[in-house]
Amino acid sequence: MCGIFGYYSTNDDDSAFEVIHKGLKRLEYRGYDSWGISLLQPGGIKTYKTTDGLDKKPDKPAIKANTGIGHTRWATHGKVTKNNAHPHFSTDGSFVLAQNGIVENYLELKGFLSQQGYKFTTQTDTEIIVKLIEHWRKKTPDLEQAVIKAFKKLKGRNTIIILTTENTIIAIKNGSPLTVGIADGAWFFSSDTLSFSNRTDKAVILDNGQMAVLDDRGLRFKEIATGKVIHKKPENLDHKQSKIDKEGFDHFMLKEIVEQKNAVLEATNYSLAELKPLLELIGHSRQVFTLGAGTASHAAGQTAYFLRNIAGIKAVELASYEVSSFAEIFDKKTVVLAFSQSGETADSLEAIELAKSSGAKIVSLVNMMGSTMSRESDLEYYLRVGPEICVVSTKAFTGKVAWGYLLANSLRGKFTVTKKELEATSSKLGSFLKPKLFSQIENLSKMLVKKEHIFVLGRGQNYYIAKEGALKIKETSYRHAEAFSAGELKHGVIALIESGTPVICIISEDEEKQNMLSAISEIKARGGLVIGIAKKDHKLFDKFIRTPELGGLDSLANVIPFQLLGYYMGKLQGFDPDKPRNLAKSVTVK
Ligand code: AGP
Repeated sequence: MCGIFGYYSTNDDDSAFEVIHKGLKRLEYRGYDSWGISLLQPGGIKTYKTTDGLDKKPDKPAIKANTGIGHTRWATHGKVTKNNAHPHFSTDGSFVLAQNGIVENYLELKGFLSQQGYKFTTQTDTEIIVKLIEHWRKKTPDLEQAVIKAFKKLKGRNTIIILTTENTIIAIKNGSPLTVGIADGAWFFSSDTLSFSNRTDKAVILDNGQMAVLDDRGLRFKEIATGKVIHKKPENLDHKQSKIDKEGFDHFMLKEIVEQKNAVLEATNYSLAELKPLLELIGHSRQVFTLGAGTASHAAGQTAYFLRNIAGIKAVELASYEVSSFAEIFDKKTVVLAFSQSGETADSLEAIELAKSSGAKIVSLVNMMGSTMSRESDLEYYLRVGPEICVVSTKAFTGKVAWGYLLANSLRGKFTVTKKELEATSSKLGSFLKPKLFSQIENLSKMLVKKEHIFVLGRGQNYYIAKEGALKIKETSYRHAEAFSAGELKHGVIALIESGTPVICIISEDEEKQNMLSAISEIKARGGLVIGIAKKDHKLFDKFIRTPELGGLDSLANVIPFQLLGYYMGKLQGFDPDKPRNLAKSVTVK
């Protein structure tokens, strides 16, 4: 959550404000409650903060600068106010600080600092860090030492960046991501590499417990545990696919929905040889767990379904935030397939750390390059579906499901035939993702947006599609949408159905079809309004959305109407589907 950015130039280009503002724009998916930029100027550090969006062109400070830091916020402690926006000042104005993370022991530290006489002017946990540094500076005048001492007192996943009046930038990583981009006479500190990919593809990615310091003596890295200087080799990042542009679409969400016809092929663009190490790993394993959070947990569920149903593998899906009870179950014969668009989701990182500590092998499928999850994995695979900017995940989900399908079929020796099936799937999705479908869904949205509660039913291959569908509607339209297995209906859910209650039912031409139709007639008997997502219309449907027949990958067609429903229901209410309220794209705190 939150995005931090820093810029340091010896080129005298005076463009720190513009560069940092651009960097924050590219980090906005990490939180958009408020933002701020601090610049080192002849008279000291000047800070600009606002709760307006980053789109709103700010009245730039008069004086230009070569060094500065910035922050875009997802509020964890304290309301969304200008005063709580980062960066936060030290009492003597000698440094400012911005943070990405949560200080879990902030109340305890605040109590200690208050006893020392420190006063607080914000509601943030961040200000605690500033005061703690001031406290240690009284004991050791060396700011770097004081920062290390203070940082070691923090509990939780935190990354901080500091700008000092000595034209120095200090940054430390523990949990939340931190990278340093290196160009000619210019350096970019950031939460992700994408934010400076338009300026350089050379970057150092810090690991937990590492610190970067940049001043007129140059850039150096230290281990905060020992204070020792460490060597960090810059990496060349493949940013070929890093174009961030709406390409004429109103929103990234619609563009990324349409890009799913390509995502199916981009995410499965692997040779059998490249999949072989994973096929062998699973072949020698006793059990496979798939895991992820939010949308990634639904892709993990769909992949586990494919591994059981197609490959007969003992595979179980886990939601990252409910893994602790599996600690005793993970062992050396366990393979964990971890799914993540960002590769930085705190719950998923902690889940793989737990599995790893029991000897499990970690295999990750991630979209963002250079992520912590890829670096922590024994085997890493990439989605390569291009940047997903909209907070609401669509093409990354489709990519993960297509990859899981290829994996399951490859375990059954069907790699080549499945590659052909994926080609066909991509072209069928291309014919499906047309304005005719968009206007049909937009019309349906006009009715559904008036409904307070919406239910989504699916079974078998469509169970996780129902869950993902409900999530898409919730995220963008702020309507209560809830998914159930249709099998659950008579065990309680049907009590919620009354006259006019909308129930979206997903039906594939598979072994669950009859069960779905039985459930639908029970809903109709209670006056429910049934919206059928299926290959063929049916007299039980009040509304019908035809999806293309994709055989074993039918789930990929069936999720699209929900993505579009969420999009139009949000848009119809004047919401920004790319930046839904209270959400952020990468959840780096637990
Ligand atoms: C999905 O639209 C949401 N953005 C959210 O549920 C997301 O899937 C979840 O936070 C996991 O993110 P990840 O894939 O980056 O790990």
